[in-house]
Amino acid sequence: MGNYTEGSQVQIRPWSEDHLHLELLYRLNVPEMLEHPGGPESDEQVEKRLMRYAGVQSLGNGCMYSIWLAEHTVPIGSAGYWESVWQGSAIYEVGWGVLPSFQQRGIASAATAAVIEQAKQQKKHRYMHAFPSVDNPGSNAICRKLGFTFMGECDFEYPKGSFMRCNDWRLDLESDA
Ligand SMILES: CC(C)(COP(=O)(O)OP(=O)(O)OC[C@H]1O[C@@H](n2cnc3c(N)ncnc32)[C@H](O)[C@@H]1OP(=O)(O)O)[C@@H](O)C(=O)NCCC(=O)NCCS
Repeated sequence: MGNYTEGSQVQIRPWSEDHLHLELLYRLNVPEMLEHPGGPESDEQVEKRLMRYAGVQSLGNGCMYSIWLAEHTVPIGSAGYWESVWQGSAIYEVGWGVLPSFQQRGIASAATAAVIEQAKQQKKHRYMHAFPSVDNPGSNAICRKLGFTFMGECDFEYPKGSFMRCNDWRLDLESDA
């Protein structure tokens, strides 16, 4: 199986409200794909998520993309960025997920690199943050290799009453480095 580190085989496309993307959301809505301890969402929540993902771009608050491989007719993951507030400042937050049978081939790294390029072009927020769980080696490796700076650990409450220990990684979108 190929390695996609150079990104040539990996494409990102903005989410749309169609059956392929709804199917992808259901495939991402399983315990092994969910980082938070909240568990899978209900059908109604998944459908709302589909509308939210497809609508982010039109609000000018970021963009959610599905991940495609040149040789596949269905999307195999998701990556995107959205506006958030962190420690009192407006930032972009970024997140990603690749279906289990496609993991560890460089796909999330390539897709996230493409997402970062899109966010840079917006010239809206200087900093992009990622908050992977401290126990997520793949996501922490992605942050490290794409040039994010480790800012420290933090706690996230989601869902209410459940706390997750996360790493705060920050990327300067205005830096040429
Ligand atoms: C985290 C996740 C997106 C990684 O996707 P992926 O396509 O496998 O990532 P890549 O192949 O680009 O790997 C990036 C780096 O992480 C490493 N890596 C990936 N999965 C790993 C694992 N399970 N254990 C250790 N290292 C791992 C790779 O070796 C690579 O490092 P390298 O370039 O130094 O060799 C994927 O495992 C996933 O979707 N997990 C479930 C959802 C999730 O955790 N989302 C993240 C929320 S922040």
